Amino acid sequence: MAVRICVRLRAFRYNRKFMLRYFTAGESHGEALVAFLSGIPAGLEIDQAFLDRELWRRQQGYGRGGRMKIETDSSHILSGVRHGRTIGSPISIEIANKDWKNWQEALPVDTGDSAKHKRVASPRPGHADLAGALKYNFPEARYVLERASARESAARVAIGAVAKLFLQELGMEVLSHVITVGSITLSDVVDWDRIQALHRKEEVLLNCANAEIEQGMKEEVDKVLRSGDSLGGVFEVVARDVPPGLGTYAQWDERLDALLAAAVMSLQAVKAVEIGSGVAAAFAAGSTVHDEIGYAGTSGFTSFSRAHNHAGGIEGGVSNGEEIRVRGYLKPISTLRRPLQSVDFSTREAVKAAYERSDVCVVPAAGVAAEAMVALTLARCALDKFGGDSMAETIRNFRGYCQQLKNY
Ligand SMILES: Cc1cc2nc3c(=O)[nH]c(=O)nc-3n(C[C@H](O)[C@H](O)[C@H](O)COP(=O)(O)O)c2cc1C
Repeated sequence: MAVRICVRLRAFRYNRKFMLRYFTAGESHGEALVAFLSGIPAGLEIDQAFLDRELWRRQQGYGRGGRMKIETDSSHILSGVRHGRTIGSPISIEIANKDWKNWQEALPVDTGDSAKHKRVASPRPGHADLAGALKYNFPEARYVLERASARESAARVAIGAVAKLFLQELGMEVLSHVITVGSITLSDVVDWDRIQALHRKEEVLLNCANAEIEQGMKEEVDKVLRSGDSLGGVFEVVARDVPPGLGTYAQWDERLDALLAAAVMSLQAVKAVEIGSGVAAAFAAGSTVHDEIGYAGTSGFTSFSRAHNHAGGIEGGVSNGEEIRVRGYLKPISTLRRPLQSVDFSTREAVKAAYERSDVCVVPAAGVAAEAMVALTLARCALDKFGGDSMAETIRNFRGYCQQLKNY
């Protein structure tokens, strides 16, 4: 018996995947959010101003609610970084909720005064309220929305920024732009230079690369601001200079496309994920979809070249050296100023759904949060491939592999 248990434990350890692990904690109106990131090698320089700029980017965009005016997110690193560099131990980052001061009595850690609690009396269709209350056996939805809320994505952006700094050491970059808001869509393929120009802007409207289309998107948001409705849309995350060979077809759950799809889909309100031109490809002939291969390239990781990049940089669950392009499709925000029909949790009578201060359009912010998820996923795959306890070791292994690609 003892031997069998021992063998099982060893099997479990051998099956343990991913050198890089991360998770978050914290409620929307609690004292703070916290994010944990374990597995970043020692010696990575951490630029706190970069982390805070990423947090600022997540707070931008036309159509955000009053909450974003209260919060000015800033990252407070608690562990894993000393004298400006990672030390190989787990990194934890706290982001204070400034709104906590208004909620201390409504959401105390101790029992508190129940008369001061703020109930969510009727679940909002489209939000986690009803499903969460049923699951956790809560009489109403306050605790549900506190954790289901996308305030949580700020914690992901903080550790995603660390993942971006790690990737930058290997020459990789991740950014996003907005393709659709409501019924307005940009149909051009937006190249890296245009995305970078957007990223440099100090004012973010809807993070769309075409100013005229962006104005149309703003008008869509103005319409729903007037009518008490909300909007969804589509963002695209682009990762550049990713070497061929991240992810693998060898196991279903190690495929890079599957990992990216799960990472982006895990963001609040994202209801579909597309890699490259995946959706259009389903309706087209193979000869017009697949990216023909040449051997003329002078730059890049190898001399192989592609006529275009419909595959979005991934074939067979493996990065192929082209830009990785992942789109996220967001449903419209579910908290409406003109609420939909619902049921009162206590009386079971038909009432309008609860309303609480809310965003009406979050496509640019969701794009920033998705950049974080893409960066964390790529960093995870890169560390699984190149390993390393120190950045010097990781970079040495990475360069060795790049040389192997050049010699191929
Ligand atoms: C950046 C961001 C901000 C959001 N802000 C709000 C909001 O203010 N009000 C709201 O009802 N939903 C908001 N959402 C969406 C909800 O968090 C989400 O719809 C809800 O948690 C239910 O999860 P699901 O849509 O994934 O099913 C936001 C989503 C993102 C990505």
